[in-house]
Amino acid sequence: MNILGIESSCDETAVAVVRDGREVRSDCIASQVDIHRIYGGVVPEIASRKHIETIYGLAEQAIERAGVTRKELDAVAVTYAPGLIGAVLVGVNFAKAAAYALGVPLIPVHHIRGHIAANYLAFPELEPPFLCLVVSGGHTLFVDVKDYTHMEILGGTRDDAAGECFDKVARVLGMPYPGGAALDRAAQAGDDRRYPMPRVKLEGNPLDLSFSGLKTAAINLIHTSAQRGEEVDVPSLCASYSAAVSDMLVPRAMQALAQTGYDKLAIAGGVAANSRIRGDLTRRAEEAGVKLYLPPLSLCGDNGAMIASQGYYEYLAGNVADMTLNAYATKSILGEKIS
Ligand code: KG4
Ligand code: ZN
Repeated sequence: MNILGIESSCDETAVAVVRDGREVRSDCIASQVDIHRIYGGVVPEIASRKHIETIYGLAEQAIERAGVTRKELDAVAVTYAPGLIGAVLVGVNFAKAAAYALGVPLIPVHHIRGHIAANYLAFPELEPPFLCLVVSGGHTLFVDVKDYTHMEILGGTRDDAAGECFDKVARVLGMPYPGGAALDRAAQAGDDRRYPMPRVKLEGNPLDLSFSGLKTAAINLIHTSAQRGEEVDVPSLCASYSAAVSDMLVPRAMQALAQTGYDKLAIAGGVAANSRIRGDLTRRAEEAGVKLYLPPLSLCGDNGAMIASQGYYEYLAGNVADMTLNAYATKSILGEKIS
């Protein structure tokens, strides 16, 4: 089954063709990062307009590169939530038109379920159940992936997401948007013990976490140093900060895994590209004797293939939509009938 996957929830227009949820036949991405960088973050109106300009041509390119004809497309899957509402709407409307014109089913896909499905593309042998650490620009969750379309949230952030935290501190350090990857690069040359950072523990669910205190601590340190006329050792600040973020995530991921009794741990989302987190997870998983799934960097960020992959499993579960499908800025990752 060839599925056309469409993603437009933030600042990447992406279209892909994936066969049977696992085999990527094409994966085309048009990033808008260069435009938004001028403003230091994503400007929603500009994002929507760029998606409109790009999506049709990108879909044609994805179909051509896949080596299939339009008639060989069996369904259209699209991110319908969550994201910037105007941006998501562009993808949803395009997908509706495409599904209608092709006479094939329309499959709504939750963006974060798509991120998790990136692991199915990278690891053909991976099947649920497994535990997934989801770390993206807007989400930080420990997800019990019981089945392809049946999940439970075991814990997560109560305030900022991991990606937001990286981007915010990177911005204060003067790094271009989105700063997560730049901060990660800078951290390579730093001393992770130079600046002590808080590792906050919350009351209640031990798998819940809070990043706002850590983020504020780092930003205060930068501002205080500037006021005192002291120079910050940027690589060491980045390394200390990354270590703290990782320390908040990795032990909890191991704890969540133990709680489920699974021996498979996957990671998903843009922040899954972070080298500190990848390194710490690798070490801890090895110590605990669990199988770790680290998708390649190309599958960590937003892409259309992950949407097409998850779309396949949503289709098998009967989760298809009609032409009344709407876009949503927020929506739980936990399944529900869409229409
Ligand atoms: O999953 P994603 O592409 O978009 C959302 O669904 O939100 O994640 C984007 C986030 C941004 O915050 C970006 O700075 C962060 O992922 N990111 C990183 C790295 N690469 C991307 N954060 C830390 N280290 C990285 N290497
Ligand atoms: Zn994403």
